[in-house]
Amino acid sequence: MSDDSKQATKKKMTLKPGTHFMCRCGKSSFYPMCDGSHGGTGKIPERIEVTEATEIEFTKPE
Ligand code: FES
Repeated sequence: MSDDSKQATKKKMTLKPGTHFMCRCGKSSFYPMCDGSHGGTGKIPERIEVTEATEIEFTKPE
């Protein structure tokens, strides 16, 4: 029997054109954007460049 209450919900957001730093550690309060909380995790954010408004879909890790 599965526990559906633990399933993460997919969310969407639109990135404005420019440079963005995406969280790869899962600790950010502003996930999926990096807020600097990765200190000490050994992980760094992923830098991405978008040239036009881009909708992304994400699931916050638990
Ligand atoms: S807070 Fe997760 S990579 Fe920066």
